[in-house]
Amino acid sequence: MTSINNENFYFPNWHPESWKFCFQKQIPNYKNELSLKYSMNYLKKSEKIVLDQEIIDLKNLYSQAEKGNLFVLQAGDCAETFESCNFDDVKNRIDHLEYLCSLLEENIKKKVVLIGRIAGQYAKPRTEQFEFKNNSKILSYRGDIINSINYSEADRSPDPKRLITAYEKSKQTVNWINKIKKSNLFISHEALLLHYESSLTHYSSFTKDWLDYSAHTLWLGERTREINGAHVEFLKGIGNHIGIKIGPNAKPNEVVELLLLLNPRNSPGKISLITRFGDSPVLENLSEIIFSIQKKQLNVTWISDPMHGNSFKSHTGYKTRNFTNILNELKNTLEIHKKMNSILAGVHLELTYNNVTECTGGECNLQEQDLHLRYETYCDPRLNRSQSIQLINNFSKLYLEHKFFNVVD
Ligand code: PEP
Ligand code: CO
Repeated sequence: MTSINNENFYFPNWHPESWKFCFQKQIPNYKNELSLKYSMNYLKKSEKIVLDQEIIDLKNLYSQAEKGNLFVLQAGDCAETFESCNFDDVKNRIDHLEYLCSLLEENIKKKVVLIGRIAGQYAKPRTEQFEFKNNSKILSYRGDIINSINYSEADRSPDPKRLITAYEKSKQTVNWINKIKKSNLFISHEALLLHYESSLTHYSSFTKDWLDYSAHTLWLGERTREINGAHVEFLKGIGNHIGIKIGPNAKPNEVVELLLLLNPRNSPGKISLITRFGDSPVLENLSEIIFSIQKKQLNVTWISDPMHGNSFKSHTGYKTRNFTNILNELKNTLEIHKKMNSILAGVHLELTYNNVTECTGGECNLQEQDLHLRYETYCDPRLNRSQSIQLINNFSKLYLEHKFFNVVD
């Protein structure tokens, strides 16, 4: 256990592993406890992946974005794979993210903070616990940090050794990023596998706070945001910026309750609400949530994720998303923020530099019957190179039309 040097004023009983006493969802059931202990101890003694100052810097940038002075671009793969941790792939991913970031900056004439879904995005929440194939039932793939995508019982069994591999790959990815990045770039992933996150959480004598050193910012997923759940328990104790994914079944009072718990000081730059409703549901849901947050004067950075509410199964059997639906969610989100006098401060996207065939539409006019050609994702469908450039350009036009003026302190 990490030292009891706890200055957490709001939650005196909190510690990095207090989540173990809470209701748990999406956490694998590891059979080999000894191996799990070994992996966690290995991580606890390992070097930090990110630095205290970088975590603080990002929170300051978010507090600027919240006021409309900066814009946030958070993007990358739905799931990284261990295989994609090689220099060429990381370089291609960073080059593409930096290109999109500079394009957006140039278009909207505003500084953009770039945050990759990278260097640790190895755990995936799954709606279905099992997968069925040829009359057999097997555990679902939950990301390379947990099990393997290969289809056998042994491959799908959660393996604690994968925590160490994920750590090493994340560290290696960050080392490469630091060598090739052209300007500031932050890393993020979903705070899903709490054995991993809590092992990389230490007390910072610098910030007088507990920090999760696995990434600059972590987000709480749509499937794990129960107020009494393990994920909220873990995140309430850490000082990093936290994103909260909000889907169509989120009630305004639940969101307010989450904010009061995760940001008791109501600090600007601490929380982003990442809305992912779907292109039409956003029209029914967003204004009510904005209203309840404004009423309580809670500080949040509003981010739109137009990907996760727009997934559907194509008639050819592939999980996909359509370019027009994605753009429409962004358009509707902008309109609602404008109407409510609040600020859309960023976008959260799943995309790749490759010319994959995972999302339909766009200038490449990809059809459902083309999806099989280069469908490479291990999890959700990503915008390909041309679709992602087109989305940034189209979004920029809409953003300029909505004229989000800076708020002066
Ligand atoms: C994701 O970001 O890949 C994800 C699973 O999102 P959500 O929790 O919003 O469904
Ligand atoms: Co996803």
